[in-house]
Amino acid sequence: MNSFQDKVVVITGAGNGIGRALAQLLAKQGAKLALNSRTASHLEETVRSLGLDDSRTFTRAFDISDKRAVFQFASDVNEHFGQVDVVINNAGVAITGLTFEELEISDFEWIFSINFMGVVFMSKAFLPVLKNQKSATALVNVSSLFGMVPMALKTPYCSTKYAVRGLTDSLRMELLDSNVKVIGVYPGGVKTSITAKALKAETEPRYTKTFEKLLVMPPEEAAQIIANGILQSKENIIVGKDAKKAIFAYRWLPSILNKMALKTMREFKGKKD
Ligand SMILES: NC(=O)c1ccc[n+]([C@@H]2O[C@H](COP(=O)([O-])OP(=O)(O)OC[C@H]3O[C@@H](n4cnc5c(N)ncnc54)[C@H](OP(=O)(O)O)[C@@H]3O)[C@@H](O)[C@H]2O)c1
Repeated sequence: MNSFQDKVVVITGAGNGIGRALAQLLAKQGAKLALNSRTASHLEETVRSLGLDDSRTFTRAFDISDKRAVFQFASDVNEHFGQVDVVINNAGVAITGLTFEELEISDFEWIFSINFMGVVFMSKAFLPVLKNQKSATALVNVSSLFGMVPMALKTPYCSTKYAVRGLTDSLRMELLDSNVKVIGVYPGGVKTSITAKALKAETEPRYTKTFEKLLVMPPEEAAQIIANGILQSKENIIVGKDAKKAIFAYRWLPSILNKMALKTMREFKGKKD
């Protein structure tokens, strides 16, 4: 794919953060956009910021853990534009600051229904449309640095993002002989409100505040790196020096991350030697 000009790009979670920044960037680069988010007013705000002609956007607010709504969206987008070139599975949520033992099983069920099953539904619903194109298309799944590197007090989030990586890498193999490029995105800290909005964030406000300080990259910069990576057909797009360093450290010096985890547990959960 040489450019986004007149390509139809689907983005989930476009009502905020990285998804909104991607919509704004790709609109400037000439794409037609099919946008989803959970909250209708957030999506409307994104669309207003694009300044695009109505014919170049299609929006639908729904929860991506709703299988029926996802399949209806795929069918409506295809009917509206008659083609889909890129699907970016970006919508995601977090739970943060609690140990596995403090969490409920329902917390895992909730986050998996969005961060993982949402990606499964979207991929299932849009894959036939992507395969149907004669030209090259892309299925882009936003995982996280925490889909490559584990972290204490993030077991549910890490588990969903590792699962997204497994799905992405395995599906890529199945589609090697097709027109669909499957791309994984692994951002480090991006300055959005995902941590502040995380489920049960209020239970550990000190942890939430500390972790938020690590989210530094502007979402516009993350969007630019992701868009460039898609055009370059990269298999894995690592976003940010922090992500690159942590992935390197976990691979070659995992004891460093263990030390960080011990420090985190002692600081926030009062664990002793
Ligand atoms: N920020 C980071 O540091 C970071 C790092 C690594 C990976 N990521 C990943 O990047 C992606 C985007 O995160 P972000 O930081 O941009 O977060 P964000 O600012 O909170 O935006 C998340 C978007 O996803 C939407 N969303 C949440 N649950 C949804 C659902 N059930 N159905 C449909 N839409 C839903 C939200 O919708 P509404 O606002 O309309 O409710 C919002 O538009 C996520 O997958 C996240 O895990 C982020």
